[in-house]
Amino acid sequence: MRGTVVAVTSASISGQHDDRSRDVIGDLASALTAAIGADHVLTPADVRAGFETDWTGRYRGSSDIVARPASTAEVSAVLTACMEHDAQVIAQAGNTGLVGGSVPRAERDRDERPVVIVSMRRLDHLGAVDTAAMQVTAGAGTTLARWRDHARSAGLDTPVDFAARDVATVGGAIATNAGGSRVLRFGTMRQQVVGIEAVTADGSVIGSLSGLPKETAGLHWPSLLTGSEGTLAVITTARLRLVPLFRATITALVALDSLAAAVDLVGVLRRTVPSLDAAEIIFPAAMELVSAHLDRAVPVTAPDGGVYLMLDCADHIDPAESLAAALGPAAGVVDAAVTTDRAQRDRLIDFRDRITEAVGAASTAVGMPTFKLDVAVPLDALDDLLDVAQGAADSDGCRLVPFGHLAEGNLHLNHIGARSPDQIAEAVLRAVASLGGTISAEHGIGVAKAPWLHLIRAPADLAAQATIRRALDPTRSLNPGVLDATARPDRQPVRD
Ligand code: LAC
Ligand code: ZN
Repeated sequence: MRGTVVAVTSASISGQHDDRSRDVIGDLASALTAAIGADHVLTPADVRAGFETDWTGRYRGSSDIVARPASTAEVSAVLTACMEHDAQVIAQAGNTGLVGGSVPRAERDRDERPVVIVSMRRLDHLGAVDTAAMQVTAGAGTTLARWRDHARSAGLDTPVDFAARDVATVGGAIATNAGGSRVLRFGTMRQQVVGIEAVTADGSVIGSLSGLPKETAGLHWPSLLTGSEGTLAVITTARLRLVPLFRATITALVALDSLAAAVDLVGVLRRTVPSLDAAEIIFPAAMELVSAHLDRAVPVTAPDGGVYLMLDCADHIDPAESLAAALGPAAGVVDAAVTTDRAQRDRLIDFRDRITEAVGAASTAVGMPTFKLDVAVPLDALDDLLDVAQGAADSDGCRLVPFGHLAEGNLHLNHIGARSPDQIAEAVLRAVASLGGTISAEHGIGVAKAPWLHLIRAPADLAAQATIRRALDPTRSLNPGVLDATARPDRQPVRD
């Protein structure tokens, strides 16, 4: 974080507003300063800029103020002040989101209302690990890596993990119902949230952090708020499930001769190897890209038409034997690099964890923001989906780099150098819907997918969701445009 606040004067406020709105923003900044202190109300344009662009560089908007509260009470005070000044609120924490949901809307979609980014990074409190209940309470701004290290220091582990762990936060992971590599064993973020505290648009605090595993006493706020992408309330704190820490681990990078063989193998592993922790699929185009990016040779080679699987097993006793017993007779396995050594495992896992970084670098090299589609289809539809994605890439003239989480049929379809991303999205997302899949498996809808939400949600379903949203946020202040099924492709920023 660069800079601190300067005294709020009209001169320090963005020049795009008339005198009346400058007064409103000045008044709002004063109210926020009274609530959380001048050091945490950021108004200079160069300081705000760091919060206004997403990780991919594809989504960008303008704000008037960045507020950095440090507690639920302060978030409540911030949202109360925002409501009193008719401001829109964009909650942001790690800002690693990939669908444009954690930055303000594009300039052309802005209206006259002030826009406040509420940065949640200071809500990074971690409570004592409850080893009996296997739970911990974490502030929304806690990174996944700190959550994990804290759990491990108490002999437990976190059930959700993904590559952006050092920056991505608990609050963002809940807001998007993030998944990652351990979903096949422990489920998505939704399954981990046993208590939640959140602030609604009018400053009310809702939810409970008791973490009782059994409770049927009305609406379950963790269920409602997980995946709501900052549109129903601002999540401030969560009570989270922990899992055993398995110290006997093994990683295998397996080359197979076909996608069908990989799907079959993962089925066998899920049925016969209970220690299976991850089964990540890497298509050759992604492997070639990450190998070049790491400047490191891949230890196994998939033949033409083949794929790679990165398998992880973790147990209290050595899982090597059960993994070998399943891998040995499996059809289509061409080669495998298997290791239990921590350093060697890390070097293998780099081929999976650093694909997104490699995709980002390749996109930068061709001077285009990264364009990625996170989708899932039934396993028997994966081939058809890949054909459509490749066809869309060929029509556009860009490069398709697919990888993902095979057990859930969840692919990340990266199109590097895409010239017409909205046309690719149209082709791929329509195919996904017709194949019985989902247009977002774990990254959320944000603004990126909002125009296509109608493909997988019926009108009555969308209407019911809009009713819930209006009830909790009658002034439409929380993350407007996100998860908004009325958005049209020509309003969404993939054309920027
Ligand atoms: C991953 C993120 C991009 O799987 O979802 O690495
Ligand atoms: Zn993923």
